[in-house]
Amino acid sequence: MKQLRYSLLILLVTVSSVYAQTKVSKEKFVNDLLAKMTLDEKLGQLNLPTSGDITTGQAGSSDIAKKIQQGQVGGLFNIKSVQKIKEVQKIAVEKSRLKIPLLFGMDVIHGYETTFPIPLGLSCSWNMNLIQRSAEIAAQEASADGINWTFSPMVDISRDPRWGRVAEGSGEDAFLGSKIAQAMVKGYQGTDLSKKNTILSCVKHFALYGAAESGRDYNTVDMSRIRMYNEYLPPYKAAIDAGAGTVMASFNEIDGIPATGNKWLLTDVLRKQWGFKGFVVTDYTGINEMIHHGVGDLQTASAMAMNAGVEMDMVGEGFLTTLKKSLDEGRVTLAQIDQAVGLILNAKYDLGLFDDPYRYCDDNRSKKEIFTSASRAEARKIAAESFVLLKNEQQLLPLKKQGTIALIGPLADAAENMAGTWSVATQQSKSVSVLAGLREVLGKQAQIIYAKGSNLDYDAAYEERATMFGKTLHRDARTSDQLMNEALEVARKADVVVAALGESAEMSGESSSRTNLEIPQAQKDLLKALLATGKPVVLVLFNGRPLVLADEVKSVPAILDVWFPGSEAGLAIADVLFGDVNPSGKLSATFPRNVGQIPIYYNHKNTGRPLGNSEGNFEKFRSNYLDQRNEPEFSFGFGLSYTQFGYKNLTVSTRQLKAGQTLTVSVEVTNTGNFDGQEVVQLYLRDVVGSVTRPMRELKGFQKISLSKGETRKVTFDLSVDDLKFYNSDLNFVAEPGAFEVYVGGSSSATLKEAFELLR
Ligand code: BGC
Repeated sequence: MKQLRYSLLILLVTVSSVYAQTKVSKEKFVNDLLAKMTLDEKLGQLNLPTSGDITTGQAGSSDIAKKIQQGQVGGLFNIKSVQKIKEVQKIAVEKSRLKIPLLFGMDVIHGYETTFPIPLGLSCSWNMNLIQRSAEIAAQEASADGINWTFSPMVDISRDPRWGRVAEGSGEDAFLGSKIAQAMVKGYQGTDLSKKNTILSCVKHFALYGAAESGRDYNTVDMSRIRMYNEYLPPYKAAIDAGAGTVMASFNEIDGIPATGNKWLLTDVLRKQWGFKGFVVTDYTGINEMIHHGVGDLQTASAMAMNAGVEMDMVGEGFLTTLKKSLDEGRVTLAQIDQAVGLILNAKYDLGLFDDPYRYCDDNRSKKEIFTSASRAEARKIAAESFVLLKNEQQLLPLKKQGTIALIGPLADAAENMAGTWSVATQQSKSVSVLAGLREVLGKQAQIIYAKGSNLDYDAAYEERATMFGKTLHRDARTSDQLMNEALEVARKADVVVAALGESAEMSGESSSRTNLEIPQAQKDLLKALLATGKPVVLVLFNGRPLVLADEVKSVPAILDVWFPGSEAGLAIADVLFGDVNPSGKLSATFPRNVGQIPIYYNHKNTGRPLGNSEGNFEKFRSNYLDQRNEPEFSFGFGLSYTQFGYKNLTVSTRQLKAGQTLTVSVEVTNTGNFDGQEVVQLYLRDVVGSVTRPMRELKGFQKISLSKGETRKVTFDLSVDDLKFYNSDLNFVAEPGAFEVYVGGSSSATLKEAFELLR
């Protein structure tokens, strides 16, 4: 009887407090709730399974449902639809003892149903407003569909295009990457997480995941601290500074200790140095994988993760199944568990879930706010800004909207591949293919004739691996000769050939490392044959990474890199091909001449034996190759426009900068060509002498400006002494007096130069 009365009391207290979070402070609310929780319930909050066997209408009978009811689940991820999420949330808040609502996470990486370019493509827009807007729309749609937590932004710097996940990040540069990280976090979280259209963001993969040896996914990372601090860690820190509520630990090891169990990383750097206040989640089975890394059994790995500073365990259930034992054995403390639970409850509180667990489950919103024509129009615009014009001989582009255009290639009529990798929520078949987009934009003005021309690759098994998750290219059963002959016949009838070639969506992304970075051979052969017809050929290139394009650069007159443009792909491509939009993208990652040059990146150091000639000719006993030049095929920051831009009159406001002063750098930029256009004006600095060796140049500022044809604009950058700072060998962030060079131009190869000195 006494027991029953006690339970009733608990129930009453719980119901009222759970639904009235705003009446008390967050701290009190969370502490009160913690005080009511059993150890099992606490461990349950740390557990993040996937949605597993949940189907609409069946949620209650699923295995996961039982766990939720028993209070063994803190959140679920990659479950889609407001109905399902509502059903599952109902179990948590009506059937579990403490009625704690669940977090619903998803990999909303580059849009939800309205899909934006893959992050690498987005980063090439260098347009922070548009990038932030893409995250806002993603948050709007995801939150309308029940999601309150995204596993984005992915801010891993990578200088190795063999690594397939370069597609998911913002390229090779820490400065650009940091700006993008901030824009994304702001876009997802807004200024108030409890609003219905904002969601919690998760910066990942902490840390250094993009530096996997030999570009092989999940491989060892080994890096000096000074390189980490200067070149790889800044974007994660920028995301934290922008308020990212959660962090995902990476799969790789750092200094011989897996990130998931690395106390230096997750506690000393993240919490103590950077002041992170949110919670850390592992990556998928990250704790269990530490067994393979060789740290010990699951109990040991789980205790290690908790001691390192992990709060939530994704999928592997190491926390759920072993932490109790570790607590008994004194390997973890109750205070640590309470701390972890508290941080997760804080996030739920911030999202407003205790006030209304169905805050993100509004049927009306899910019907009205997802994949709307307004969002799609924005996605089309953003996609067009992400394209990089790599080559345009004799102004072949833009094409005229007239005559007969042959559209050829395995990516030409490939709706399912347009969204690119990690597009969990996209409705693949609703993406606009190149064929559909060209038809819509051209209407009756020109005739489009189409042929597939080749499969993705000669090797059918390779194609299967590269077209997973429903991203089929509908492999054609005809022989290569049959496909090629049809394409050549089509090409001969046309005035111009548009070849839509490159990688399939799943040739980049997770577990999609490559050792050969060329366009697959079947497509190279097709392209060669198309060129041999003598027709002008435009290559519309699909890729999730920098590719090796030596052959194409030699032989194809025009190359437009479109990455994977998202759901509005074909329309955005048509906009740019026909000049309704002038391309303005600039590369955020260097394109090597061949795989042997990797890693290759613009902000490299000098050697003691640099080349003595600017032509790049071979010199014995100098730092170069016998068989290849040092420079890349396309450098960081490079990208053409249909117009041209001239730079002149670079000035610095002082040649002798003192602490506390601002240096104003100005330059005149003129649109000297025949089209209105946008240019990304880039500022690079070289710190000529340092206590440690410094990069040849580093991006320190950029502005994307619009210039009408003939227009000149003065562009200015203000630099403070803070902008000259770097981590020295004691890992202190310092600016050192001495000489600096400033370069301003339209790419990292800018030659316009000024100089100043930082005074003591
Ligand atoms: C990836 C993460 C992702 C997670 C959840 C992992 O395999 O590495 O980036 O967020 O799965 O889907």
